[in-house]
Amino acid sequence: MSARRIGVIGLGQRIAHVLAAMVETGWDLNLAGYSDPAPVGLSILGDVGIPPGRSYRDEAELLADGPYDLVMIGSPNHLHLDHLKAALAAGFPIFSEKPIVRTQPETFDLARILAAEGPPPLFIGLVMRSMPIVREVLARLAAGELGELISIDATEHLHPEHGAYLARNWRRKGEWGGSFMLDKVCHDFDIFGAMAGARAAKVASFGGRRIFHPDRVDIPLTYEDGSAAYALRDAGWMGANDAFQSDMDLFDHQTAIVRYESGLALAFHSNSHVALQERRWYVAGTHGTLIADLVRNRLMVRPALDRRKPERIDFASRTDDLHNGADQAMAADLLAALDGRARFPVTPADSMEAGLTVMAIDQSAARGEMVDCREMWAAFDAAISP
Ligand SMILES: NC(=O)c1ccc[n+]([C@@H]2O[C@H](COP(=O)([O-])OP(=O)(O)OC[C@H]3O[C@@H](n4cnc5c(N)ncnc54)[C@H](O)[C@@H]3O)[C@@H](O)[C@H]2O)c1
Repeated sequence: MSARRIGVIGLGQRIAHVLAAMVETGWDLNLAGYSDPAPVGLSILGDVGIPPGRSYRDEAELLADGPYDLVMIGSPNHLHLDHLKAALAAGFPIFSEKPIVRTQPETFDLARILAAEGPPPLFIGLVMRSMPIVREVLARLAAGELGELISIDATEHLHPEHGAYLARNWRRKGEWGGSFMLDKVCHDFDIFGAMAGARAAKVASFGGRRIFHPDRVDIPLTYEDGSAAYALRDAGWMGANDAFQSDMDLFDHQTAIVRYESGLALAFHSNSHVALQERRWYVAGTHGTLIADLVRNRLMVRPALDRRKPERIDFASRTDDLHNGADQAMAADLLAALDGRARFPVTPADSMEAGLTVMAIDQSAARGEMVDCREMWAAFDAAISP
């Protein structure tokens, strides 16, 4: 087969990294071009030697220059729906970054479009689904190794540079990013839904902006060795200069509790300025327990009534981006799905359910009360199966 012809809408850091992983895993690709007013990812493509192709005026001009074997969407979250609509109408296979869309009305709108006949294949970049450690966790749960799932304790804690980037990048504002948790942990809530085999029934959440806040005084701006803090990366499209003084209107830390329809209870804790980085799932079932350490890429499992040493699996491939080889695994999954050799590990419906779960959590934090999700799921079901 000749090289796959690819068009990119939103050539930011993320799509550039995904393209690099595609090339690394043996894709034969021809990047025809991109539409992006300020392509942050160009230098990354340059570093890995992928010619970026032509710069199109906008997505309409790019799509009119098809056919494409794949259209890739990597724009900021508030543009996903418009870009998806345009790409779906053009009819080429699509890879779109997460979160699939940003709000409940956008989700219902997209669900209605996808429910109409004949949408092209749509693959969403919920990259954790491709991680070997996550696949192992889901396989063990599916095999019943932990018995019935009772409760989960999960975390996502970011180092200060990462948090400062979020406070300066377009992700700092709801109108662009959606929310702190939607942008960062829709991945995790997608997996929790898969673990539960059920939807969220009730959610409650608290969050705030108390770290990257203009009222804080005497903030140390250097590390112990004198190097500058909070300045790691170029903040990119619509970026702000100062993480503390920016016009951020989203949380920088948040906690949530969820009761799933299966009875599973989950507690989630996230913070964007920690000294001890962590992304960890502690999963307790009637017959066993597991801890998935997603930062160190290690899994520990033991049956409840077993006093021997727990089983430990060290999934090697740790990488600086903390994706730990997931991008390469997703690139392979994408090629297999396009070739019809395997199903992509996550569906658009899964992606919308994960997003809606986090949106309900945010609704709870905004209202200061527990949210019953029944109405939301009824609206979603009506949209997705009219
Ligand atoms: N799956 C993952 O692990 C993962 C990781 C990082 C980011 N993402 C997602 O990828 C997407 C992009 O994030 P990023 O980190 O690459 O951000 P980024 O800021 O690096 O890139 C966004 C790009 O979109 C461009 N853009 C802005 N307006 C546009 C328009 N009208 N048309 C086309 N392009 C436009 C910007 O100029 C920029 O180049 C987001 O949806 C984000 O949530 C996913």
